[in-house]
Amino acid sequence: MFEKLKQLLKNSSAPYSHFKVAAIIKTNDQKEYKGVNIESAAFSNTICAERNAIFSAISNGVKWGDIKEVYLLSFSENKNNLKEFATPCGNCRQVISESSNNKALIYIYNMEGDLKKTTIKQLLPSSFRANDF
Ligand code: THU
Repeated sequence: MFEKLKQLLKNSSAPYSHFKVAAIIKTNDQKEYKGVNIESAAFSNTICAERNAIFSAISNGVKWGDIKEVYLLSFSENKNNLKEFATPCGNCRQVISESSNNKALIYIYNMEGDLKKTTIKQLLPSSFRANDF
């Protein structure tokens, strides 16, 4: 997965933050979908890699709730630190929680290929869910 993420990272379009992010998600039936962050000159239009990957899966017929694993790699061209790990932002945590039925496993790499494993339950405890209303 690390090699695939490194390739994918090249597609990130981050001319403002210079922070590149690549995400690959796996579904319950083992299909993979990719996303990168894409920034806009109107900053709030920017979209994160994780949500791009998940929304791509849904756009291609995956059912909401069927996201199983999220693989991430990021690199800050400003800091140029190959050892850092970045975790998903709050908005992406919400979408990962909802789209995985709160079960996603999250694999975060740094640029040296080291891996940290976590879960959406750890990253977003007490999540707000559709069955709350
Ligand atoms: N970004 C992501 O792609 N995923 C995250 O979880 C955190 C932030 C992107 C958005 C923006 O292009 C850049 O990183 C800096 O915030």
